[in-house]
Amino acid sequence: MCGIVAAVSSRNIVPVLIEGLRRLEYRGYDSCGVALHQNGRLRRARSTARVAELSANVAAEHLEAGTGIAHTRWATHGAPLVHNAHPHFSHGPGVVADAGEASGMAASGRVGLVHNGIIENHDELRAELRNKGYVFVTQTDTEVIAHLVDFHYNGDLLEAVERTLPRLRGAYAIAVFCRDEPHRVIAARRGSPLVLGVGGAAGANENFVASDAMALAGVTDQIAYLEEGDVVDLQLGKYWIVHADANGEFRRVERPVRTVVAHTGAAELGPYRHYMQKEIFEQPKAIADTLDAVAGISPELFGDGAHRVFKGVEQVLILACGTSYYSGSVAKYWLEGIARIPTAVEVASEYRYRDSVPNPKTLVVTISQSGETADTIAALKHARSLGMEHTLTVCNVATSAMVRECAMAYVTRAGVEIGVASTKAFTTQLVGLFMLALALAQVRGRLDGASEAAHLKALRHLPVAVQSVLALEPQVIAWSEEFARKENALFLGRGVHYPIALEGALKLKEISYIHAEAYPAGELKHGPLALVTSQMPVVAIAPNDALLEKLESNLHEVRARGGELFVFADADTRIESGEGVHVIRMPEHYGALSPILHVVPLQLLAYHTAVARGTDVDKPRNLAKSVTVE
Ligand code: M6R
Repeated sequence: MCGIVAAVSSRNIVPVLIEGLRRLEYRGYDSCGVALHQNGRLRRARSTARVAELSANVAAEHLEAGTGIAHTRWATHGAPLVHNAHPHFSHGPGVVADAGEASGMAASGRVGLVHNGIIENHDELRAELRNKGYVFVTQTDTEVIAHLVDFHYNGDLLEAVERTLPRLRGAYAIAVFCRDEPHRVIAARRGSPLVLGVGGAAGANENFVASDAMALAGVTDQIAYLEEGDVVDLQLGKYWIVHADANGEFRRVERPVRTVVAHTGAAELGPYRHYMQKEIFEQPKAIADTLDAVAGISPELFGDGAHRVFKGVEQVLILACGTSYYSGSVAKYWLEGIARIPTAVEVASEYRYRDSVPNPKTLVVTISQSGETADTIAALKHARSLGMEHTLTVCNVATSAMVRECAMAYVTRAGVEIGVASTKAFTTQLVGLFMLALALAQVRGRLDGASEAAHLKALRHLPVAVQSVLALEPQVIAWSEEFARKENALFLGRGVHYPIALEGALKLKEISYIHAEAYPAGELKHGPLALVTSQMPVVAIAPNDALLEKLESNLHEVRARGGELFVFADADTRIESGEGVHVIRMPEHYGALSPILHVVPLQLLAYHTAVARGTDVDKPRNLAKSVTVE
């Protein structure tokens, strides 16, 4: 997703801006650019290739300056072409585009701007600005902001931005600078994250903004998280933050500056070919780290006061997107089965826009790897606006907006996840959610000491259990060669393993681009059976649970239609390989934690199929790691 880095400094800040973009690369982007205040002009370089190429262009053009803004773009409005790449310059009445535009190099315009988010009323603003003589050279929604700031500019950039923001509808984080004020950058946020980085190199009097503290790792660890509606004025050696009051008047506000040890994003691949493969193999450690501080089950694992809240709630509402939604769907089985608490799981982007029936005695649980997913944050706020104040997040980033927004949190310790396809974040979420089910069960008098001890023992065994599942990799590779030749696949599961089938299908389509669908196996004969031919591989998740016999009947239905079965069975099941039936046997039988183990070979299957098809595994087409726009 889009990324921002901007700085005001008395040293040449270009290497810091480029390195910041490089650190944001893993989020996914399709173009990038940097603009600088150099010799009284705004100059820029942009590229639809990687940040490395942008860096080479910048060096070739001798772009050097202390004030600059930089961006990685994930296209929403306008194709990923150089002229749509940020930074955008204002083209006020009488200004013609620079001759260097086509090559990505240009020096023109009074105002330069980068933007994350989406401006929803861009059509209306574009028409208005055209009437005032502004020239549009991009198909982006962003260009209107640069022109609006230019229109309102009267010698004070902060004032121009303050007059621009009330005109914008939608979500934004912006950083803007002006030809006439060489040592100043104004940044603002509403709906997209932005941090302020204070200080940096000794004597350079520098300050920064970025969409993620990680972009500033190694430059400054003094970070202030800007709040919704904040505007920050960066100058040499000083900054201040303003925020509009109820009357729309901007007033000075203070935000705490904390020491934040951001990860560097420079994780080494080691012996692995891709980050996704590395992250799949890191799962034993990620789960062990997530369980590290857990001495026993207690509501306080989720925050102070959790006991009182857990005692008072009547139901759970889970809000999440993508893979995190599937972990929530698994959790529903645990919450209802173990804690006996009614649980609803909602796709965040749907929930926020539908009429629902709120119950104030609801525990609202958001799940997010990044903690910055715009739809999930909006759904959380929507739930709160309906009077549901008890909020808890299961999240992998302690400093994220999600953790800051929720009253309680369980921070998983998966470590940074770089591959766009989520793997270790998913399994650690499941660990956190299983403990949530146990804690709620405890408070509701449904967990005796013996059961708690048995569950804890099973949890502590997980890292070893996952390790032995990873040893199945060679068998999965053999299957993946066959999958790589197909264009469709069907995944089947029952009960708590149905969301695991959904997750397996999502992984496969995300990175191999094979069309994959998942069904509860009992639904097969209600429609999808029509798709089954010898060309449709059917993956079945077949743990040894109460539904195994039912699942076996469903598998016979597939075989009877000539379908080829690929079955992940537990150690102690009687399902055998035979004609048209391939079985990989899991090393054990896992009980309640089975979904955490059964997803691992599905991750490996997707990974090796994608490798066999030669796709860009860590950065699949059209996708971003952190989806900070609606
Ligand atoms: O950061 P989040 O967990 O909130 O992200 C939610 C989804 O965007 C994410 O899980 C997405 O579906 C992944 N690419 C799946 O691999």
